[in-house]
Amino acid sequence: MKFGITALALFTATLFSVSVAMSEPGKESDVGKARVPADEMEEAREWKNPFPATPENIAKGKALFTGKATCFTCHGNEGKGDGIAGAALDPGPRDFHNPLMKNRQAGEYMWVVQNGIEGTGMISYSPGIVSEEEAALIVLFEMSLLK
Ligand code: HEC
Repeated sequence: MKFGITALALFTATLFSVSVAMSEPGKESDVGKARVPADEMEEAREWKNPFPATPENIAKGKALFTGKATCFTCHGNEGKGDGIAGAALDPGPRDFHNPLMKNRQAGEYMWVVQNGIEGTGMISYSPGIVSEEEAALIVLFEMSLLK
């Protein structure tokens, strides 16, 4: 009987830790916390997107996001953070529809695309993989998802 209870307790504990471990990857980090380091924030926030948010420019940004820039592999085609390559990442890719993203400035998005986020799957994409102009178009698309 004693053995039975210990075994049951062990089994429950294992199940619990497995479910905790499984719920972590793919989950996005706290959006309330800025991704740009404090000492670079002022400069980042001053950046203004040179492209107006016209449907044409947003479509160009989406084509890059879902194409050669490979953002979709982690962030998903619609930017929901549900791309197949993002499922195993901890923290998971950002969901650009998260309403708290409304507090971000365009320059904060841009900073991340240029610098990446240390210690996460988010690497630097510009100027290596996309040009600064292409990155700016992608930022237009990402921010359009909030409307
Ligand atoms: C290999 C997976 C992966 C790819 C590909 C990827 N990202 Fe990310 N991205 C992440 C992860 C993971 C995070 C969240 C990091 C964190 O929470 O600190 C993130 C975060 C971001 C953020 C920060 C959002 C915020 O909270 O301010 C931006 C902007 C972003 N990605 C843009 C892009 C763009 C644009 C591309 C394509 C050029 C791209 N990402 C490609 C994994 C990826």
